[in-house]
Amino acid sequence: MTTADTTRPSAASRDVHAEAGRRRTFAVISHPDAGKSTLTEALALHASAISQAGAVHGKAGRRGVTSDWMAMERDRGISITSAVLRFDYGDTVVNLLDTPGHADFSEDTYRVLEAVDCAVMLLDSAKGLEPQTLKLFDVCRNRRVPVITFVNKWDRPGREPLELLDEIEQRIRLRPTPVNWPVGIAGDFRGLLECSTGDYTAYTRTPGGAQTALEEHLSPDQAAERESDAYRTAREELALLEEIGAGIDMPGFLAGESSPVLFGAALPNIGVRRLLHALRDLAPPPRPRHDAGDRPRPVEAAFSGLVFKVQANMDPAHRDRIAFVRVCSGRFERGMVLTHAATGRPFATKYAQAMFGSERETLDVAYPGDVIGLVNATALRPGDTLYADDPVQFPAIPSFAPEHFAVIRCKDAGKHKQFRKGIDQLDTEGVVQVLTSDLRGDQAPVLAAVGPLQFDVVLHRLEQEFRAPAELTHLDYRLARCTDTDGAEALAGERGVEVLTRRLDGATLALFTDQWVLRALQRNRPGIHLETLLAGTG
Ligand code: G4P
Repeated sequence: MTTADTTRPSAASRDVHAEAGRRRTFAVISHPDAGKSTLTEALALHASAISQAGAVHGKAGRRGVTSDWMAMERDRGISITSAVLRFDYGDTVVNLLDTPGHADFSEDTYRVLEAVDCAVMLLDSAKGLEPQTLKLFDVCRNRRVPVITFVNKWDRPGREPLELLDEIEQRIRLRPTPVNWPVGIAGDFRGLLECSTGDYTAYTRTPGGAQTALEEHLSPDQAAERESDAYRTAREELALLEEIGAGIDMPGFLAGESSPVLFGAALPNIGVRRLLHALRDLAPPPRPRHDAGDRPRPVEAAFSGLVFKVQANMDPAHRDRIAFVRVCSGRFERGMVLTHAATGRPFATKYAQAMFGSERETLDVAYPGDVIGLVNATALRPGDTLYADDPVQFPAIPSFAPEHFAVIRCKDAGKHKQFRKGIDQLDTEGVVQVLTSDLRGDQAPVLAAVGPLQFDVVLHRLEQEFRAPAELTHLDYRLARCTDTDGAEALAGERGVEVLTRRLDGATLALFTDQWVLRALQRNRPGIHLETLLAGTG
């Protein structure tokens, strides 16, 4: 090899670099009902990825639902599973990772946020920052994920734009930097002013509500004449913002300190294209991911990927198990043999697939930012690393502190084998945490959840997929802390405490009936190691 060969990037690494540069991988975070499903559909529709709104993401009663795979989801109108959408927008490849809206599934959402480069924080213009938005934003802040804010439902009565910006700044200490600005108050919305150029787009709703609004581009003079006072007010507000220096600040945005803000309405498709442009122009492409030793792995390095989700039986037509892998570095080619970092075992990738809602197709090549679905990858768990050539291990995805505990038993003694298989499967997928102890045995493990809906999912899936109807006995514990062998010994026999082992990672968890028991123990026996877990709720 000549010196030039080693100093100049090879054609292969230039290819990976260029392809990674085209990727925008993000998730939408919002409180339920802020319009996440509507926005997801509108974005995909706008990029012409699907022919009809309603074909991507299911909510109760929607037409053409393809991603809601579980009857329970449809019945309750909640979305539990995370779908991955991928579409091209001009030269940009958009990977939109969906997150479950319900707080009970925050752990799942957290894992998805481990796999994105950017998040869109979606706010309802009438409600501003809501509890679930705040919680999810905290996750983004911890992970330093850059956040673009989209204020939705501007076609309906809502709050003042300046008041919303103020709330963002005051409550979450994220400096808002508007990209566009609404003309006309929420409810009497006229159009959007582009902050950097002063270009104005007027929108007129067509009768019938859900139809796309008509768009008209006007010069500043035309806009002033047509919208008169509303236009003047918007310009004054913008002048005020300019004075306080609220222009887009790229370093601040990438560091998670400021957030570009866009206004719009997903339902009538107002401002959706502008959001796509913001994603294309502002959102970062995949960046080097840090390994467990905090060393960055360049995107051009040999293939590496992070398993962020494992999902079985997503679709009755495909009864199998998919591991979703976010490509972190290198070029993926179907058929490559990778190494599973946790076990050192080789891993064949013959059955790699691209996911589109619940539609799948064979995936031959993927680049950093893309998501690969690996079929029947039984050995893989969320948080696992796969790599080719140069070994790497990414940091584990932390588990949330469970707050709900119940003993689960199989109702039918003849179905015990299926029951155990089901529990193993749901544990590996991360649907719920499974805890055991010698005392409790395998027949009646303890389930630990962040939210009680997780239990409903377990019962439903055990019955539907594993034909093993089960029942729960709720336990009185409310708190969990991590402890060690000495702690486990010291805590044995204490009132209001039980020590169990988490099956997936062998962690020793101490459960407490309430904070008084925990506090009394901490006060009376300060030597016991009790470590706080990642807060999931509250
Ligand atoms: P989610 O996934 O965040 O839970 O919210 P989703 O998209 O289901 O939207 C919640 C409700 O808000 C839906 O109405 C939806 O039509 C409405 N919505 C979303 N974006 C906009 C918008 O820009 N403007 C207006 N006016 N409404 C919007 P729904 O009546 O609850 O459900 P549906 O029967 O319309 O599906």
